[in-house]
Amino acid sequence: MFAMTSLYRARHALLRIAIRLIGTEKPTTAIGPDSSLQLCKMMADLGLRKVMIVTDKPLVELGMIDGIKAKLDELKIQVAVFDAIKPDPTFEVVREGITRARDASSDAILAVGGGSSIDAAKVMAISLTNNKDPQKMVGILKGRKQALPLFVIPTTAGTGSEATVAAVISNDVSHQKEVVLDPKLVPVAAALDPALMTKLPNHITAATGMDALTHAIESYIGVFATDETRFYGAAAARMVFENLPKACGEQSEDLEVREHMALASYYAGLAFTKAHVGYVHAIAHQLGGKYGIPHGLANAVMLPLVLEFSKDAARHKLAELARVCSIGSLSMSDEQLAQAFIDHIKSLNKQLGIPATLEKIERQDIPQLATAALKEGNSYPVPCFMDQSQCEAVIARAMVS
Ligand SMILES: [Fe+2]
Repeated sequence: MFAMTSLYRARHALLRIAIRLIGTEKPTTAIGPDSSLQLCKMMADLGLRKVMIVTDKPLVELGMIDGIKAKLDELKIQVAVFDAIKPDPTFEVVREGITRARDASSDAILAVGGGSSIDAAKVMAISLTNNKDPQKMVGILKGRKQALPLFVIPTTAGTGSEATVAAVISNDVSHQKEVVLDPKLVPVAAALDPALMTKLPNHITAATGMDALTHAIESYIGVFATDETRFYGAAAARMVFENLPKACGEQSEDLEVREHMALASYYAGLAFTKAHVGYVHAIAHQLGGKYGIPHGLANAVMLPLVLEFSKDAARHKLAELARVCSIGSLSMSDEQLAQAFIDHIKSLNKQLGIPATLEKIERQDIPQLATAALKEGNSYPVPCFMDQSQCEAVIARAMVS
């Protein structure tokens, strides 16, 4: 284990240097009710004339893009709509979108939706200008040319994809998630418009909000964290604890609450695009691939279980987060604060109606799930490494006994 740990840390050191050399821009951000319409104006001011909206059918049927389309019409921007995005989009869907954008001679892409629409739009934008099949873009820095100008209007508060250099697309055959990593994927601009989030069903608000919290915490306790990423991660965690119960309760239509959640998701995105995630995500990705468990739900269930494993190595960081989030009391030791922080996450899950275990996990699948999770998770800058039996034990705790 010691030799393997040294190898992982050596790889991390190289990756950390690469991240610093590459650097990342932040998207220009408009925030607040009707900021989505301001984003349309920004597109017109940039001289864009033919825009492909990338979204999903339910949003179109709910009339969620009507206002955006009307504004683009008013601004004399020609609009085409590609609404075939489904959860966990595949390369086939991305290819279809690319063909549609080429047919429409689109000069920009506007993603309106959750992480699936945003990620598909990112890969469309970079594949189009580089004239490459989207699957060929998998990996790090595969695009030579800038992506087609990309604009983003998230309609959920969780993935933070509007701020990140990454896009996740599912393999059409294996259903494994494949990652495109390139600073050219960062959108030109994003609008965090709470008016588009007030009708989200509670279970989606809860799961996506817990995804944002997981980004905030995993990036904060990982070894790539910097003062900047910890600043954004801590702010995001505090905003989620304060606002997610309200967004899932009687204040679900409160624009201020929704705006805080949108901002928390964006801040967490800024944190994890540089400081990465950890084993919670590595395990959640396997649970999503194997059983179709939604990403946010899998993260929410795994988060306290993985933190219980990491709490000795990450004790001081977890205690810092507890203090920032006003969890526990000033007289508590770091060890007590770290535990109070983990217990607070369990209470939040309970309050949001998120179960402590996942019915779909089968005992016979756990060794394979753990092997795949470690393959992914050991590449992340985690505070301490797991071995196979430790990972199996963590996953087993998420199984219904
Ligand atoms: Fe995530």
